[in-house]
Amino acid sequence: MTTIERTRADVTVDLDFYDPTIAAPVDRFNDLVADLAAINPVVYSTAHGGHWIVLGYEEITQVLRDPATYSSYPNNLVTNEAFGKFIPIELDPPEHTAYRRALAPLFTPKRMSELREMVRETVNELIDGFAKKGEAEFVAEFAHELPARVFLALMDWPVEDAPLFTEATDIVLFGKPGGTEEESLQARAMAGFQMFGYFQKIIEDRRANPGQDVTSTIVHTEVALPDGKRLLTDEELNRMCFLLLVAGLHTVQGSLAWAVKHLVENPEQRKLIIDDPGEVLPTAVEEILRIDSAIIAGRSTTREVQLGGMTIPEGDQLVVVLGAANRDGRQFEDPTRLDVLRKHNRHLAFGGGPHQCLGMHLARIEMNIALEELLRRIPDFDLVAEDPPTYHSSQVRGCARMPIRFTPES
Ligand code: HEM
Repeated sequence: MTTIERTRADVTVDLDFYDPTIAAPVDRFNDLVADLAAINPVVYSTAHGGHWIVLGYEEITQVLRDPATYSSYPNNLVTNEAFGKFIPIELDPPEHTAYRRALAPLFTPKRMSELREMVRETVNELIDGFAKKGEAEFVAEFAHELPARVFLALMDWPVEDAPLFTEATDIVLFGKPGGTEEESLQARAMAGFQMFGYFQKIIEDRRANPGQDVTSTIVHTEVALPDGKRLLTDEELNRMCFLLLVAGLHTVQGSLAWAVKHLVENPEQRKLIIDDPGEVLPTAVEEILRIDSAIIAGRSTTREVQLGGMTIPEGDQLVVVLGAANRDGRQFEDPTRLDVLRKHNRHLAFGGGPHQCLGMHLARIEMNIALEELLRRIPDFDLVAEDPPTYHSSQVRGCARMPIRFTPES
């Protein structure tokens, strides 16, 4: 019997994850990705100088769990070498392990649980801001503000600085709106260096005046690095602050907006949560994280490797589309259907292996409390047909704007 082997040419496409048109309307992204997955669990794109796209659940799990073969640098197709590697996300073990061990105690379920009351207060303060109006721009008034305020409290950075880094992170992630690739690269570099200047001031302040916050702790913790146990340098602290900031904002923002979208589209599922939030919310949050997942992570091969029936040469770049794994019919029954009661939901929205999301306990707390209070206070929220949401692409998918309407709180 002859087996016909597929070559790279057989699975070559031209999809560019940074092309803004693939995000609008939102389901276009999922449809495009499903079309690619139907070709093969691993395909090749000519965009950004050429890279592989990994789509299958099994193949993605394999990549995430094997950092010796799939290096985490670079993590982005659009990268700026002048920034250096983001810590810890772009480092491989054993270097990664040392930084991760230093950070992990700051993000444990127990420590994050202690933030519950603060998260609930913040959620209710934000809802107070629009509940009586009967309408809101959900992203600006809630989904963006919540993770930003929680992050500021965690790091103990001044609340009034939020607009500064919101703008800079947007530019770093999405480039210059409407700009050419060259203009976007330049804008990214400028925004990045502006952020480094900001972090430097905070780091110096905490070095002199330590508190109980995460920033103070990482400034004053000795880390067992391959070159010996020592305090982190300013440059390392800068690259760590940057990653923490970028990691926790747009991801939660997007997931909250998808929650609204999916619950509006599935009123019977929304009712299941409203009728029994204590029982249903935890599985509902996992299902929302599964059905639309924010991250398209990047890797590069350290050796020639076989994956999804393809031979990938050493040094090639890959992206793993976690949202595609989470809609893989070989892993999830009826994967395009929202099922807030779904059991054994082993989704990969938070990744897996050594880089699995450090902020996942915090993200889950934010989402659970946010949905609990939104569904308690404005349970009939709806999208506005004549002013639909704007979603965005790149390697962090999400939502930029989402007008909503609901019965005003009396
Ligand atoms: C719904 C919200 C979130 C999602 C979907 C998400 C997803 C992810 C994913 C997929 C990764 C792994 C990327 C890779 O393997 O290359 C990751 C890593 C990370 N996330 Fe999250 N994240 C979320 C929220 C947060 C929050 C709130 C924080 C903290 C403030 C955070 C901090 C981090 C950090 C520090 C890493 C790097 C871990 C490492 O390299 O060891 N994330 N996240």
